[in-house]
Formats: sequence, structure tokens, C-alpha cells
Amino acid sequence: MATKIPSPFIDAVLARTDIVELVGGRVPLRKAGRDYKACCPFHEERTPSFTVSADKQFYHCFGCGAHGSAIGFLMAYDRLGFVEAVTELARRAGLEMPQEGRPAIKAGPDLRPILAAAARYYQEALRHHPAAERARAYLKGRGITGAVAKTFQLGYAPPGWNGLLGALAKDFEPALLERAGLAIARDGAAGFYDRFRDRVMFPIADARGRIIGFGGRVLDQGEPKYMNSPETALFHKGHELYGLPQALAAIDKAGQVVVVEGYMDVLALSQFGVAHTVATLGTATTREHLDRLFRYAPEVVFCFDGDRAGRDAAWRALEQALSVLRDGRQVSFLFLPEGEDPDTLVRAEGAAGFQERLKAATELPEFFFETLSARADLSRMDGRARLVELARPLLSKLAKGALYELMIGRLAELSALKVPQAAALAPARPEETAPRVQPPAPVRGGSLVRQAVALLLQYPALIQEVDELPPPGRPGMDVLTELVAVLRETPGLSTGAIVERFADTPHRATLARLAVWEYPSLLPDHGGVMRDIMRTLNEQARAAQAKDRHTFLINKGNLTPEERAELVAYLRNRNSEGQ
Ligand code: UTP
Ligand code: MN
Repeated sequence: MATKIPSPFIDAVLARTDIVELVGGRVPLRKAGRDYKACCPFHEERTPSFTVSADKQFYHCFGCGAHGSAIGFLMAYDRLGFVEAVTELARRAGLEMPQEGRPAIKAGPDLRPILAAAARYYQEALRHHPAAERARAYLKGRGITGAVAKTFQLGYAPPGWNGLLGALAKDFEPALLERAGLAIARDGAAGFYDRFRDRVMFPIADARGRIIGFGGRVLDQGEPKYMNSPETALFHKGHELYGLPQALAAIDKAGQVVVVEGYMDVLALSQFGVAHTVATLGTATTREHLDRLFRYAPEVVFCFDGDRAGRDAAWRALEQALSVLRDGRQVSFLFLPEGEDPDTLVRAEGAAGFQERLKAATELPEFFFETLSARADLSRMDGRARLVELARPLLSKLAKGALYELMIGRLAELSALKVPQAAALAPARPEETAPRVQPPAPVRGGSLVRQAVALLLQYPALIQEVDELPPPGRPGMDVLTELVAVLRETPGLSTGAIVERFADTPHRATLARLAVWEYPSLLPDHGGVMRDIMRTLNEQARAAQAKDRHTFLINKGNLTPEERAELVAYLRNRNSEGQ
């Protein structure tokens, strides 16, 4: 390979990439247990055997055997070279590619530990800072319970200019806090000051629960009411969904996700049991939002104000939604009564009242035709022509399928066009048959070394269970030794990132296979299994060494008295064990 990209940079790129998001943007994924499934994009098939694992950050097709990390996927799917694929992922992650010939690693620093530390500081301050009394009273006054405050890791940024900077000074440079969006450089002077002061703090996390930014609300009157983290390498306001990790389980269960506008709305709905709720961060609904929402549920309900501005915002969301809608996906709009938001509504009407409203939400096609019909006078022929003119470019964004046919049919009805009924009611695609999951390719029962490699690869955190490494010699020990070295040096690598580390070695194929090997143990205690395996390997190694030593002594002849005593002890021992 001509260009060698340093592995720490590749690690950093993969750590900032979500393979589910990447693949999901190109292949429609369906959630299946902990993983995601699809028909394999790399070979013809009718039942999905292509699996993407968020935990492992790895994809694998049980049909054709295609597999790899996010980098491997881009190479195969977008037909990119290795360097091109890394470059593309780095761009998405906001990382600057290392310059050739400059050995220094230019992966920006990992901002996540800083954000996590800041969240802890704010949370702690809400509980114990002398100035936090007002913040606690404010939250209480708004009906926020302690349990919700805890679930959403609410905090308080104390007044003063360097509370956070001071608290984090021993671990992080102020310039790093600035890059994380937490501090601001003083104008024309040296030094920094805290961005968030005297605000209730709402940590914003990614789908995996890692904090990437904050929103902060003033306690009294003040501008702006909400201050959010600026754009950073991690935080892109127009993509994020507040409350996502807390909502995931409920979304899964409901098969639906409710999208609201405010932090407080998420908190109130969650508190009342409408927990499958997320919020956009005061921005219009983007294509990225929709892509992500549909990854988690087939049905999305947007809550908007019933006023002009709310309806305009809903229409913009609809325009974005058209291009991601396909059969099986549903979008509806819940328009709220004047002067209410989900927070006030659910407190007034309870969860049942709010669920009723969700059930009665306006479906996208209805909102679509209602809005367009209001813009054209359907009692006149030219008005009906105008309706067609307005609708056509929008409908052309829809994927072909039953929904498309139905909407074209409705358009024909409304505009009284003479469309052959057959075309309007074109056959919907036959119901997909339930996926027949193919069993994973059989793997021969693994040796202990092989099991150790598989476990470490699939659960890299198990490196904590590895103290003493058996000596080299057994088949596979070289892979295990290298793997342990990599994990000790770089904790936190995903399975995909580890396989990538071995991309240029003869071990790659073995590791890729073991990455998806179903570990033949019913014990959920992987830590215990790992400790047992390591203990057994070490015992076996010691026994083998002892045996070698004594074979040597037996064959040596002419023993010193010490050697003779050692040999006698050994033989005696062995005989008593043999009984
Ligand atoms: P709202 O003003 O409707 O928020 O703004 P809210 O949640 O109802 O606020 P409360 O109930 O008065 O506390 C909706 C969302 O718009 C963004 C925030 O994400 C907020 O939750 N916003 C609003 C800002 O980013 N900045 C602002 O100054 C105001
Ligand atoms: Mn509100």
C-alpha cells in the first residue's frame, strides 16, 4: 500500500463512526434483536442474511460471507480504495486527514471524555453547589421529579466565569474545553471563560449514550432562553435528537417515535410514561433526522404548534419525509392547540389524553392533500390542474410502491382526472414473507486459544480479565498475544476497529471469522468464562513446561543432587496424580 495511514488515526475515525448509521444510509436496515438485518447488498437474495452489529461495529453476511468494518463497507459498497474510504469517513467525523510524510497523528483530540467530565460536574453542582438552590427550585416548580432529573442527567452550570474551567483544569487544557464547546476564548486577551453560566444543563447524547453537547436554560427571564453547544467535531445541531438513548427501549416497544420541539417536552412526556419521545434542537427537521428516526421505528409522529409557524415547520418536515418514505413507513403530524406544548398538555391531560391525541394525529397523505388543496380552487378546472402541478414534483420524490400508488390515486380523484383505475390502484407489492434466518455458518469447536481470541474480539472490555498471558508455542498463541497487546495499548476499540488493525496481516481472515462466531456457551458471564480460559491455558502451559523439563532431566543422565531431587519429586507427584 502506497500511503500508510497511522492506525491511531484509523481507530479515531472508526470510534467516531457508527456503522449502523453508515450502512443504514445506503441499505434499508431492520432491527432484529440487538443487530440490524437487510437483504445483502453484495449478492442476490430474498431473505435477509446481511447483519450489522452496533456493538461490534461490524457487518457480516451469512449468505455470501462478506464482512468488515465501516471502512470495509464503504470500500465494497461505494467501490472506494482504502485511503478514499478512510478519507470519506474522516470527513463525516470532522477529522482532518494526517498529512503525508508527517508522522504526527492529526486525529483531533477525543472530546468525549471532556464532555463526560463536564456532565458530571454540572450534575454534581445541581446537587451541591451553594448557588444551585434556585435551579433546584426552578426544576421543582416545573414539576420535574428527581427520577427524571437523574435519567436525563440534568445539571446546573453555576454562575461565575470559570467554575467548569477550574474544576476540569487538572485533567484538560482550557483550549480543549473550547474545542468541546464548553469554554470561550477571551476577546483580545489571553484566557478563556465558561460558555454556560447560571443555567440548567441538559446533556445531549448520541444513540449510544455518549454525551456530545449540551443545552442550557436560563432560570429567569434572559436571552437566549436556551443556549446550545456550538458546532464541534462531535456536535451537529441539525442532526441530533435530544433524549434518544433514554427513549430507545420505549421506541422499540412502541414501534413509534414521537418528535417534539423542546427539551422540557421530552422530560414531561417521559415522566408521564410517553417515553418514546425525542426532540430536535430548535432546528427544522432535516433529512438526517428522518434517516435516523426511521432506523429506530417504522412510524414517526411529529408534534408541532397548530399555528401558522407550526404548520410551515410541519410542511418542511413533510418535504424531507417524502424522499425517505417507503411502504411500511409512516409519518403523522400532531398539531397542538394554541398556546400549548406537549409539556403543558401532558401535565393537564395525563398520558392517556396525550396518547389519544397521538392516535388521532393527521397522517402524512391527509396533511399533504389538505395543504395543497387549500392552495388551489378545486371547484375550477384550472384550480385542479394547479393541484396536479403542485403535487407532481413532490410525489416524484416518493419511492414507487403502494403508498405512491395510493397518493397518485387520491390526486386523480381530487383533480377528477381520468386515470384508469387500474393504474391508480396498481397492485401493491406482495407482503414480504417473514425472513427465514439462515443459521450461521458452522464453526468447528474452538480450541481454548481460539475461544479466548473470539471472546476478546467480541467483547474487547474482557481485556480486564487477562493478567498473565500464556507463553508462545500453542497454535494461535501469536494471534492472541498480538490481540492482547493491541487491546492493552488501546482500550475501547470496537470489534470492527480491531479487525481493521489486522487488515494487512495473515490473521485478518481468522479474526473476521471469529468476530461473528457464535460463542458456544450458554453462560452469560463472559468475564468468568474468560478468566477460566486464561487460567486453564496458563496451567496447561506450566504443566507442559514441567513435563519438558523432566523429559530433559530423564534423558540427561549425570544429574546434580538438586536435579535428582527435582526429578524424584516430579515423578512422585505424577504417580500420585495418576491414581
Ligand atoms: P421553546 O421555547 O418552545 O422551548 O423552544 P420549551 O421547551 O417549550 O421551553 P420552556 O418550556 O419554556 O422551557 C423549543 C426548543 O427550541 C430550542 C430549544 O431546543 C428548545 O427546547 N431553542 C429555543 C433554542 O435553541 N434557543 C432558544 O433560545 C429557544
Ligand atoms: Mn415549553
